[in-house]
Amino acid sequence: MQKKKKREHWNSKIGFILAAAGSAIGLGNIWKFPYVVGDNGGAAFIIIYLLCVLLLGLPVIISEIIIGRTTQLNPVGAFKALSKSKLWPMIGGMGILAGFIILSFYAVVAGWSAGYIIEAISGHFYNFTTPEAAGKHFTALTQNVSWIVSWFAVFMGLTISIVYFGVQKGIELGSKILMPLLFIILFILMINGLTLDGASEGLKFLFHPDWSKITGGTILEALGQAFFTLSLGMGAMLTYGSYMSKKDNVPTASVEIVFLDTLIAVVAGIAIFTAVFSTGQSPTVGAGLIFHTLPVVFTKMTGGYFFSIIFFILLAIAALTSTISLLEVVVAYFVDEKGWERHKAVIVFGGITFLIGIPSALSFNVLSDFHIFGLTFFDLADYFSANILLPFGGMMISIFIGWIWGVDNALKELHNGAENIFEKTPYLIPVWTFLIKFVAPISIFIILINSIGLLDTIINLFN
Ligand code: PHE
Repeated sequence: MQKKKKREHWNSKIGFILAAAGSAIGLGNIWKFPYVVGDNGGAAFIIIYLLCVLLLGLPVIISEIIIGRTTQLNPVGAFKALSKSKLWPMIGGMGILAGFIILSFYAVVAGWSAGYIIEAISGHFYNFTTPEAAGKHFTALTQNVSWIVSWFAVFMGLTISIVYFGVQKGIELGSKILMPLLFIILFILMINGLTLDGASEGLKFLFHPDWSKITGGTILEALGQAFFTLSLGMGAMLTYGSYMSKKDNVPTASVEIVFLDTLIAVVAGIAIFTAVFSTGQSPTVGAGLIFHTLPVVFTKMTGGYFFSIIFFILLAIAALTSTISLLEVVVAYFVDEKGWERHKAVIVFGGITFLIGIPSALSFNVLSDFHIFGLTFFDLADYFSANILLPFGGMMISIFIGWIWGVDNALKELHNGAENIFEKTPYLIPVWTFLIKFVAPISIFIILINSIGLLDTIINLFN
């Protein structure tokens, strides 16, 4: 028999919540959420997004965590343990692959945020008076191979050095230090935003819905964002769940993680849009909002030098607690399934991810004209993982719980540690069952065929 080392567990309930919230809260909340809201008309988009988080994100996150907690294994091992078919471990394997791919481009952007801490400290932002000028500077930096690759390397180094120390002494300890820091910084930025002249314009943009801006595409965008921001569909939550003990309350923990993730996205939106509106900048500039517009916003603000530094520290922290979860998925697989020693797995696969990510980093300079399916390496990695692998994984997980392993088995497991919820709110059980069996798989299926362009074709057939 194989000699099994005892599995590490979270040291405390709050440790798990902070680590899982750390995985969820990332560039998706602070970089992507504000510009997607800006592009899609503000409040109306937020309402749809909240519905997606509640109706889709919450049931799926509970499912992922319970699969992990039940089996105490990585995504591949977990599906092997719960089903006889070869298909399901392959779905787990796709999650590991998605982890590799997402980490490889995500850490490139994370590297920019770390690089921008230094830009902020050096006071470079004060050279720019328009977002165009700041944008040019940003483009020049990303075109500089040594700048982009070295910050990417720094970020991978940071990620590796936390995951290296394992679940308790690495991920949990790191999250316990970094997440409170993140909350404090974001709180300071929000208070500052709210006290600026013209802040109410920013709030109006965020909280007064303009339904005329909502199209079918907006709804799909909201679903996709809900998915990415909760780290769903690739086994990150499953893996973190596998370090929980049977006594832990999964539904409550899931609600807390989803709540924190949503809160942080909205607070980041408040901090950013109050500042953007009060300095007369445009909210609808797309992906450049943070690296083009914000540097200029900071220079026009009292205390902007200080706020610009803590803002990019915030962004880097948020990204780091997400990259560690991505690397952990890969590491857990090699440790559980292939019997690798953790330290070796962390260094080898952290290193390999760095190598795979180099073409993504070079997509902004030497490889910018190199296209596959019309996309650069970076865009391809982003598109393929976020728009295809994650939704597909999420759909399969809901099908697995709803129809294969079965809701009854899942509920039996969920009951452990959550007895009070089952007693006090029994009506939530049929709601969750309905969402996981029908709503989740069907709506994710729609996002998926949309992102590969099939939906338009089908709609056109009927027009
Ligand atoms: N949830 C992270 C974010 O919002 C991204 C992520 C996706 C992390 C999938 C892990 C797994 O930035």
